[in-house]
Amino acid sequence: MAATLRTAGRQGNVAVMTSTPVHVPVLLAEAMEYLAVRPGGTYIDCTTGLGGHSSAIAEAMGADGRLLCIDQDREALEFARTKLAPFGRRVSFVHGNFRELASLAAREGFHDVDGILMDLGVSSLQFGEAGRGFAFSLEGPLDMRMNRSADEITAAEIVNTWDERSLADLFFEYGEERQSRRIAAAVVRARPIETTWELARAVEQAVGGARRQSQIHPATKVFLALRIRVNGELDSLHAGLPQAHSLLGFGTGRDNGGRLVVISFHSLEDRIVKQYIRREATECLCPPQLPVCRCGHVATLRELTKRAVRPGEAEIAANPRARSAVLRACQRIR
Ligand SMILES: C[S@@+](CC[C@H](N)C(=O)[O-])C[C@H]1O[C@@H](n2cnc3c(N)ncnc32)[C@H](O)[C@@H]1O
Repeated sequence: MAATLRTAGRQGNVAVMTSTPVHVPVLLAEAMEYLAVRPGGTYIDCTTGLGGHSSAIAEAMGADGRLLCIDQDREALEFARTKLAPFGRRVSFVHGNFRELASLAAREGFHDVDGILMDLGVSSLQFGEAGRGFAFSLEGPLDMRMNRSADEITAAEIVNTWDERSLADLFFEYGEERQSRRIAAAVVRARPIETTWELARAVEQAVGGARRQSQIHPATKVFLALRIRVNGELDSLHAGLPQAHSLLGFGTGRDNGGRLVVISFHSLEDRIVKQYIRREATECLCPPQLPVCRCGHVATLRELTKRAVRPGEAEIAANPRARSAVLRACQRIR
């Protein structure tokens, strides 16, 4: 177990959690640049977390702006509510999943918005609390639900009830873990597995010494795969992107359409975001050999980031959690 503990610092910017969680917003300057928040505008932060990006948006939108803060984690939302209290009634809060973005926004009277932010993944509050079970550096129950009030499956239920083949497929598909079969077999042998450390130990034993020299902990990909599955992260993103797109306003003049900014932390998420924006920014989706367009598809987005925006060395040095962040942005044009 000492080996596991020594690697704690590699999990992100949560080396020590105190009673007041600290979350350093990732790519904050870049997110604000692409959101281009204007005074009096309306904005939605779909992943409010501890309110880092939300605070910057609320500041920039001024006294006449409105911001809707959404998070599926009640604790995070309550933390953000306190943090953003100085902005008064300009900021409202809704507990929910952005896979239901259209109805959450409609309920709060938000439409034709100027900007939407999705900063995906987990917050320091979730990651740094042993009882949430997200981190292999902290011993806790294997939970991993962002929304603890939902009747979602926990990581422990998956690890202890799925058959070996399903576990291997999960680790391979969502964790891109090349030793998925060997790890799945070891996990099944080690059952019952109730805690983060029990799972981390089973994975470590399965992959042996080869990974010990590696930059990442042997259990990183397995934990990521479980978290993605428990929270249905990819399905939420698939569902949330078109709803965010539809909520963006057209603006009053050229280049005034609403903007969507998405920060993702692993390649599966980024691929979904990239493909969605590219498709909706393309005029015609017919195969190139067709002489005339049959699909009738029209571009309704403009890609603002032709290449993914990544943090610079200084940000990564100050906040290691930022190292895998990728930002993409687009703007409504029709
Ligand atoms: C990386 S944190 C956001 C941090 C935030 N931008 C800040 O500066 O404090 C991601 C947050 O999004 C929430 N979240 C993730 N997926 C979500 C979803 N599908 N719907 C609503 N909230 C989600 C998580 O609960 C977490 O609090």
